[in-house]
Amino acid sequence: MKIAVVGAGYVGLVTGACLAAFGHRVRCVDNDPVKIAALKEVRIPIYEPGLSELVAQNMAEERLDFSTSLAWAVADAEAVFIAVGTPSRRGDGHADLSYVYQATRNVAEELIGYTVVVLKSTVPVGTGDEVERIIRDARPDLSFAVVSNPEFLREGAAIEDFKRPDRIVIGTEDEMAREVMAEVYRPLCLNQAPIMFTGRRTSELTKYAANAFLATKITFINEMADLCEKVGGDVQDVARGIGLDRRIGNKFLHAGPGFGGSCFPKDVTALIKTAQDHGANCRIAEAVASVNDQRKRAMAWKVVQACGGSVRGKTIALLGLTFKPNTDDMRDAPSIAIVTALQDAGAWVRAYDPAGMEQAQTVLQDVEYAEGPYEVANGADAVVIVTEWDMFRALDLDRLRRSMRSPIMVDLRNIYAGGEAEARGFLYTGIGRGMTGPGTTIQMQDALVAGT
Ligand code: UDX
Repeated sequence: MKIAVVGAGYVGLVTGACLAAFGHRVRCVDNDPVKIAALKEVRIPIYEPGLSELVAQNMAEERLDFSTSLAWAVADAEAVFIAVGTPSRRGDGHADLSYVYQATRNVAEELIGYTVVVLKSTVPVGTGDEVERIIRDARPDLSFAVVSNPEFLREGAAIEDFKRPDRIVIGTEDEMAREVMAEVYRPLCLNQAPIMFTGRRTSELTKYAANAFLATKITFINEMADLCEKVGGDVQDVARGIGLDRRIGNKFLHAGPGFGGSCFPKDVTALIKTAQDHGANCRIAEAVASVNDQRKRAMAWKVVQACGGSVRGKTIALLGLTFKPNTDDMRDAPSIAIVTALQDAGAWVRAYDPAGMEQAQTVLQDVEYAEGPYEVANGADAVVIVTEWDMFRALDLDRLRRSMRSPIMVDLRNIYAGGEAEARGFLYTGIGRGMTGPGTTIQMQDALVAGT
């Protein structure tokens, strides 16, 4: 099949490279000439494991190419994927659809013959209707269909997610478009991936519902973690105890500093706005957004407490800055709120991240960057694990502690929750681990309640 992908950002690139790997001929187009020039030399502007190799291989086998020319990409394409960004609109939290609509107008001018225009970008319910109207107004005689086909790609595992999806959702009421989309994903059908055909609006909403539900799961376990700290429980055991119930499932129950990234925060906000616009209630999503926002900054107070009530004049070393491992993405990363709150409290912040330091420099101020995990901790008053990169999971804790001014570790991802850090002499604070040892406040409270 001949496929065009408009927008060579994260989603567009992964989609284009994976569709080419299925055997389709894919042309990716972007209006940024610098990005296209780099891609033509197989220089990938984002950090995504395996993407560079996949792009290189499919370019070498002449199934994948890049250009700034929309006409070149779109003219003979049977399906045109629109994969441009839909950031949060400044001020009101609605998804900013200006890039989608501009891409649609440009694509409409170049279409020849029946073409399926596929909305891959995350777009609010009803966007497909508007895209269809724009194309029809521009080209009243053209035969075309607009389809919703949301992505469910996790950064850092995007290629795996594309090639082995839990499901593919395709929203269309057009029979011919259905056949074209079935052909696009035929290689996955052979792998028995479930393909779900729905109405277009249902498909658009499914994407938001999926992300809001996952964000809710995370927020729920984060609140359970806070409760564990108050009552003396272990949130990891609570997560396991509920996750083994197959109705709940064990995924996305890892307590941490709050969710971040390019999707969850903006999609939860956009879902709330859509609901408000239609006079519907999305009170759970509203609570999730607000609890998560407060949580990120509250993590700094955990550090302050671990440091004895003040970080003024102290050096705090952060291990990890990106919103999750295996990405250089800093969008809505909890580290941003944590760094700002620590600086407001008078701390000097030093940081190390294996991939995110370049991006971090564009969003964080007055942070000192170090070359590695041991360098960042050298002379620090506390070390804070913010992102669970694999390289932080097996640190030489003796070496780390010896280099520090005081042996305080705040582990916002619970990677050392098994007791290793305490065993190596750290004063350790994790997430959702109540103190239940003899003589602790909780034991005393329990004793008082029991009247002993
Ligand atoms: C997400 C969705 O998973 C994906 O399907 C969608 O298409 C895009 O948004 P991504 O943003 O790449 O993907 O990250 P994800 O792995 O889902 O994590 C999102 C955030 O939640 C991260 O900040 C992560 O640290 C946090 N998280 C995730 C937790 O705090 N606990 C968990 O158990 C899981």
